[in-house]
Amino acid sequence: MSQYEKPVIKRLMGGAMNKFGRSPAYARKVREAIEGVPISKLVAQYGSPLFVYSERTIIDKYKQMFSAFSTRYPNVAFGWSYKTNYLKAICGIMHQCGAIAEVVSEMEYMKARGMGIPGDQIIFNGPYKPIHILERAVAEGASIDIDHLDEINDLEKVATKLGKKVPVGIRINLDAGIYPQWSRFGFNLETGQALEAAKRIFTGKKLILTGLHCHVGTFILEPNVYARQVGKMVKFGYELKAKFGFTMEHINIGGGFPSRSRLKGTYLPVDVAVPPVDSYAKAITDELSASLEPGDFPKLILESGRALIDEAGMLITTVVAAKRLADGTRAYVADAGVNILPTSYWYNFNIELDRDVPGINEYSMIYGPMCMNIDVVGEGAQLPPLSRGTRMILSPVGAYSNTQWNQFIAYRPNIVLIGENGEIDLIREAEDLTDIERREKIPERLTHFNLER
Ligand SMILES: Cc1ncc(COP(=O)(O)O)c(C=O)c1O
Repeated sequence: MSQYEKPVIKRLMGGAMNKFGRSPAYARKVREAIEGVPISKLVAQYGSPLFVYSERTIIDKYKQMFSAFSTRYPNVAFGWSYKTNYLKAICGIMHQCGAIAEVVSEMEYMKARGMGIPGDQIIFNGPYKPIHILERAVAEGASIDIDHLDEINDLEKVATKLGKKVPVGIRINLDAGIYPQWSRFGFNLETGQALEAAKRIFTGKKLILTGLHCHVGTFILEPNVYARQVGKMVKFGYELKAKFGFTMEHINIGGGFPSRSRLKGTYLPVDVAVPPVDSYAKAITDELSASLEPGDFPKLILESGRALIDEAGMLITTVVAAKRLADGTRAYVADAGVNILPTSYWYNFNIELDRDVPGINEYSMIYGPMCMNIDVVGEGAQLPPLSRGTRMILSPVGAYSNTQWNQFIAYRPNIVLIGENGEIDLIREAEDLTDIERREKIPERLTHFNLER
């Protein structure tokens, strides 16, 4: 017998016209399998929620992006942005594809070393690099991009201690037409900070400036932003050449390329809003050709994160309850919340169902199990009436989910990778209570309770 539900009268928006035509009231996105593996099999073996990565998608994306740049410019390297996804298996795929490592903390540096990446294949960015890890990174030949003046002092101390001149890059920030401007990392170009920093390095004589780094922001939907960035970086490089004899061995333009996900507040569909990677590669390499002097080919380094990994990750989550809110809005409780999907705050995920569900689409809310009002995983999705047990497949979720997630009130779930031949590998096991409590200690005096007061 189905459950009684108080009737409501609601204006149905499914089927209403918008600028792009009519969204059919019965439109469904059904996905029964990921990379040929049935959703039912994945859930039966690994439970729900479940993160699923596709090795094929990662390799294809990498090849596509690398060739977009390497066919247009002769000296290109990719640094895999660990912060975007540092699961060992994911880093392993990126390194097998040829990417070096790009890290922003001691923990990430140690992770890259633990993966077997030699220090001289690691780019070390970030605003805080404790002195002991700087020492190690310098000794191991890492490529360090300096964020601030205090770090110049730190590195000079390291150079003195190790008795050698240390090659370094500096991170600069500049106005490339992205507002609000990311000016908190590195030295500002327009105010003269970057020039002062370079002068400080050259006059200190303990460090050797070998390159420039700049990451202007993330999810940049306008390729010309990069053209402006690169033009300013190259011009600055030649200014340093004229003033101090600088040779720009590398020009690191960071990441920031968009994935094919729908940012909240974006009206246009993904196909219209997100330019193809070739547009970025063309804008960047055209500007390099225009602004570099003949014969100069500094290594062009890219640290693309989300654009390489986002689409390769999907999350299977299950409807555990269906309800109506006081205003009549259809709402679902899913077994995955913002704790494991922090990108819910800025993405409207693509939502697919594991089965065809009859009924008309309705504006629906998807909440997670967090018992917190902020736990909203999907807002305003057009969905047919779902019942408990329906699986929803959310995508893309490969970028930042498994690095920014947390274990608030719940265990983090399994993560599997589907290999190129359809093999399924568990790449991170679901947590249990021992993971949560492993580092805790309780004073003996707090272990005896008197509950009857
Ligand atoms: C220095 C640096 N490089 C690369 C990235 C990766 O950025 P994205 O994922 O937008 O490509 C970031 C992200 O914040 C970053 O700070």
